[in-house]
Amino acid sequence: MITRTDHEQIAANMDTYWKWEWFKGKNYTPSAMHAGSAAISCKYYGQLISGANCKSVLDCSCGLGRKTVLLAEDGLDVWGSDISSLAIEKAAELADQCGQEVKFVLSAWQDLSRNIPRSFDCLINDALAWVDTRRELQDAIGEYYKMLNPGGVVIFQGAHEFSDPDKRAETVAEIIASSRRSTPRESLNGKFSRDGVQMTQLTLTDWLSDAIVHTYLYVIEQDGQLMLETATLAELCRWSWEDFVAEFLAAGFREIHSHELTVEGKTRIYNMALK
Ligand SMILES: C[S@@+](CC[C@H](N)C(=O)[O-])C[C@H]1O[C@@H](n2cnc3c(N)ncnc32)[C@H](O)[C@@H]1O
Repeated sequence: MITRTDHEQIAANMDTYWKWEWFKGKNYTPSAMHAGSAAISCKYYGQLISGANCKSVLDCSCGLGRKTVLLAEDGLDVWGSDISSLAIEKAAELADQCGQEVKFVLSAWQDLSRNIPRSFDCLINDALAWVDTRRELQDAIGEYYKMLNPGGVVIFQGAHEFSDPDKRAETVAEIIASSRRSTPRESLNGKFSRDGVQMTQLTLTDWLSDAIVHTYLYVIEQDGQLMLETATLAELCRWSWEDFVAEFLAAGFREIHSHELTVEGKTRIYNMALK
């Protein structure tokens, strides 16, 4: 069973992480947002959303709201939600700065129908594959079903239809090995300054058999005092395509498929479950 404490812990880590990502500033301004990776992701989403004839979207892992606001700029009726209250607050500021009316709501995926009083044609989640337990996965997918209009879709990434089930262990091992090759064990970034506060960030990365774990240490200097804050984020590779199929169908979805899309010469695979 998922406890309040589990969600409070995720929220606390995400609040700290987003607070300092926002502080660093570089990816979360209106101009950076239009030029960065979120804008590329929204081109893939755009293809899937228009292909499925969706007009309304819930971005339920909105973070600081980049993709949410970009999708609103594309003329969609978009709401954002996230487990981090800090992220929601800053996402609303970003929408204001961009002149977009987007409603942002604080909610865990597993509580969406209690917190959001309407339904959508499409729900996007760019971190569903990182849920820790099967119960959490089931509760999230059950809520997605409730949040969608008939014929609505969930779009997410992770293990996909084209993965070979017999090579699951090798595929996960290669994802972890590739991260190990491209990511330093420790990296130091800084100093970042804003409003009389200075912050230096040390990132430590650990590679487990089915997870990449980032620990962020923030050294903060303010009014001559030093403080330390930490956040931990795990990118999990726990769920196979067969797990996703089983849980979406059990929740009542009619079908689930993977789509290979190319944008600016780069191919990505997204999963889409249909209510
Ligand atoms: C990869 S980040 C999102 C990044 C964001 N979409 C962007 O493009 O900048 C994943 C988000 O999922 C949120 N999250 C993680 N677990 C959650 C849960 N159980 N319920 C709701 N949100 C959750 C995190 O707070 C985080 O903001």
